Amino acid sequence: MSHTGLMQESVEALLKQDRDYLWHHLTQHKVFQTNEPLVMVEGQGLILKDIRGREYLDATSGGVWCVNVGYGRDSIADAVCAQLKKMPYYAGTAGNIPTIQFARKVISLLPRLGKVFFSNSGSEANEKAFKMVRQYFRLKYKDKDKYKILYRNRDYHGTTLAALSATGQQERKESYGPFLEGFVEFPHACCYRCPVAKTYPGCSIECALALEAMIQREGPDTVGAIIVEPITAGGGIIAPVKEYYPLLQKICRKYEVLMIMDEVVCGFGRTGKMFGYEHFDVDPDMVTMAKGMASAYMPLSATVVKNDVFDVFLNDPADKMAYFRDISTYGGCAGACAAALESTRIIEEEHLCENSRVVGDYLLGCLKELRAFPIVGDVRGRGLFAGIEFVEDRKTKQPVSEPFLMSIIKGIADQGVLVGRTNRSLPGLNNIINLAPALVATRADIDRIVLAIRNAIAKVSS
Ligand SMILES: Cc1ncc(COP(=O)(O)O)c(C=O)c1O
Repeated sequence: MSHTGLMQESVEALLKQDRDYLWHHLTQHKVFQTNEPLVMVEGQGLILKDIRGREYLDATSGGVWCVNVGYGRDSIADAVCAQLKKMPYYAGTAGNIPTIQFARKVISLLPRLGKVFFSNSGSEANEKAFKMVRQYFRLKYKDKDKYKILYRNRDYHGTTLAALSATGQQERKESYGPFLEGFVEFPHACCYRCPVAKTYPGCSIECALALEAMIQREGPDTVGAIIVEPITAGGGIIAPVKEYYPLLQKICRKYEVLMIMDEVVCGFGRTGKMFGYEHFDVDPDMVTMAKGMASAYMPLSATVVKNDVFDVFLNDPADKMAYFRDISTYGGCAGACAAALESTRIIEEEHLCENSRVVGDYLLGCLKELRAFPIVGDVRGRGLFAGIEFVEDRKTKQPVSEPFLMSIIKGIADQGVLVGRTNRSLPGLNNIINLAPALVATRADIDRIVLAIRNAIAKVSS
């Protein structure tokens, strides 16, 4: 028997079948001619075990920042099981008990918003938001068409074609165009690489002011919404300065442009508050969420809107087209909402937002000490969400090469710690390691993660 309870024979057979049949996400399969695929088998807390019985401390919450409450939560599995036995499914044209209860929970967490539309993935939640924006303005105005969506450079909003059209990461988009008409990019808000070559606080937050010029150039009567990640995730862990969102909001209100806040990564405690935008003085019209909602025990996402938005869809039933004509077969299915209710109960009862904030501050403090290494250009983050940007030269900020970054990541993995990185996102800027351990992480977990990173950096620096 192997360490994971599988017969050695079946380990080899499964690894072969992985190579023979499975197409992995975001992977060049040629590597499997020389390397074995990674097959994960079980987890508890932050610890994962692979098919060969090797243990890892997962500092990524499942690779893509979603297992917020950690692995091995029997109470979530039990809640899903009980619901599936009672009733697995009926379409979202009807309510079901966990879905009603979780919608009420979401609105209790976001009391300025009023209605929750469920779907299955972050991409889909953003697609719904774009459709809602277009139809909202078409219901509201007959004499103008506010259909354009403005998105920010370096932000990611999903893999489906409209969500990818709204993504400011060139490497994600490469080879998949043409993209949809009506999606336009505005500058990012990363002070370390200021898009307008200014230095905070000596600037006037020109990166935010650029939005106004863009709306004017596109024509205010054609712009329906902007979409932003409160803290950019895959584009390099970027929290804008505090003045940024109030300025964006002011510009949006001036031109009646809705603000969509993509909380797919930041939502449900990742940044030390339940939602990432709560760090800022901003009041979005629509909020999308996924990943940490059900801690990835089940797939679930939502597009949550203000009643002002929803009310425009309340029309005479005789008008066959004047309601939101969208359906998602699995969106808000009962088992996923049961998982989300239990995951959110755990986040609240175990004070995991607080833990994310406190242990996250400790993490950031430890990472800042790594700036003693000249290749550490910038360290940034909020809560249990942090990034380390590596450069060849601190003055020029020339990013390290991808193979060099990979050698650091391998050095970390060799010590049994899994970290993430900017991956196929921005040309030349795949030089950032990111960390997002489960929100139950302790200082001891952080010490182990940081020591592994320190050792790996020391190795490549010697
Ligand atoms: C900010 C953000 N929005 C949307 C998505 C898309 O979510 P999904 O992969 O569930 O479609 C992601 C995925 O990583 C994301 O990081």
